[in-house]
Amino acid sequence: MQQLRAIIESNEPLLPGTGILWLRAPDVARAAVPGQFLLARCGDGYDPLLRRPLSIHRIKPGAGAEGSIAVLYSQSGAGTAYLRSRRPGDELDIIGPLGKGFTVHRSSRNLLLLGSGWGLAPLIALADRETAAGRNVVLLAGAASAGQLYPPARLPPEVELAVATEDGSAGRKGAVVDLAEEYWAWADEVYACGSTAMYGNLALRTAGLWPRKPVQVLAEMPMACGVGACYACTIETRKGPRLACKDGPRVLLADLQL
Ligand SMILES: Cc1cc2nc3c(=O)[nH]c(=O)nc-3n(C[C@H](O)[C@H](O)[C@H](O)COP(=O)(O)OP(=O)(O)OC[C@H]3O[C@@H](n4cnc5c(N)ncnc54)[C@H](O)[C@@H]3O)c2cc1C
Ligand code: FES
Repeated sequence: MQQLRAIIESNEPLLPGTGILWLRAPDVARAAVPGQFLLARCGDGYDPLLRRPLSIHRIKPGAGAEGSIAVLYSQSGAGTAYLRSRRPGDELDIIGPLGKGFTVHRSSRNLLLLGSGWGLAPLIALADRETAAGRNVVLLAGAASAGQLYPPARLPPEVELAVATEDGSAGRKGAVVDLAEEYWAWADEVYACGSTAMYGNLALRTAGLWPRKPVQVLAEMPMACGVGACYACTIETRKGPRLACKDGPRVLLADLQL
C-alpha cells in the first residue's frame, strides 16, 4: 500500500453519469488484486474532507515505470463530481491498494460473477484476470434500464454475459440474482458485488449450496480512514465484528449477518 499523486492518463464517459479514469500507478498496478480498492482525495482543498473509496476496476501491470489502474466512478455527490472534472495530465492523490481482494481456488474452472451498477467495477477486474488464466467466466450484469448497462464490447471476449434490467428494457426483467438459477450447478465459485438487499437475496438462494460453492461478496460499507483505524466500516459477521476496509471488503456471504 502506498500514497502517491498518480497522473491521470484518460478520463472518459462510459454511461450517463459514469466514467472511467485511468491512472499511471506502476507500483499499485503490480500489487493490486481484483476486489481491492483505492482511497482517492476528491478535492483540491478540504472539501470533501474524507477520501472516497473506489474499487480497482482494471489493472494493466507493466515493467519499470509502466503500469496503470482504472477506476469506474458513478457520479453521486461532490467527490465523484470532482473525479468527473479531472483531465488527462492532472494528478490524483490516492492510497492503495487497500483491503483484501477476491481469492480463486486453484482447482476452480467455472466462475460465476454477479453485479449491478458500480458493483460491476471490481468484478470486471476479476473477469480480466481469470479469463487470461484460462478459466470460464459467466458475468450476470444488472442495471435499472438498458441505457445503464455496462457496454458488452468492453468485456473480455471470452466472458459469457447475461443481463437483467429492472424495467425489462434489456435482458430479463428483474433482479440480476434471478438470472443465477441456471448457473448454480455449473459454477465452482460465485462472486458478487452489490447492495445489502442483493446479498440477502443471494444468501436465501445459495443457503443449500454452501459449503460446496463458496460465495464471496464485497462489503462496501461507507468508509472514513480505509485502513482499520476509525471503525466506521464495522460489519457484523458470524465470527464477530470485522472491519470492511481491513478484514474485507471480501467476505464469505455465509459469514455475513444480514
Ligand atoms: C470498498 C468500496 C468500493 C467502492 N467502489 C466504488 C466504485 O468503484 N465506483 C463508485 O462509483 N463508487 C464506489 N464506492 C462508493 C463510493 O465510494 C461512494 O458512493 C462515495 O461516497 C461517493 O462520493 P461522493 O462524494 O460522490 O458522494 P457522497 O456525497 O459521499 O454520497 C452520495 C450518496 O451515496 C451514498 N453512499 C456513500 N457511500 C456508499 C456506499 N459505500 N454504498 C452505497 N451508497 C453509498 C451516500 O449515502 C449518498 O446518498 C465504493 C465504496 C466502497 C466502500
Ligand atoms: S474505514 Fe476506518 S476502520 Fe474501516
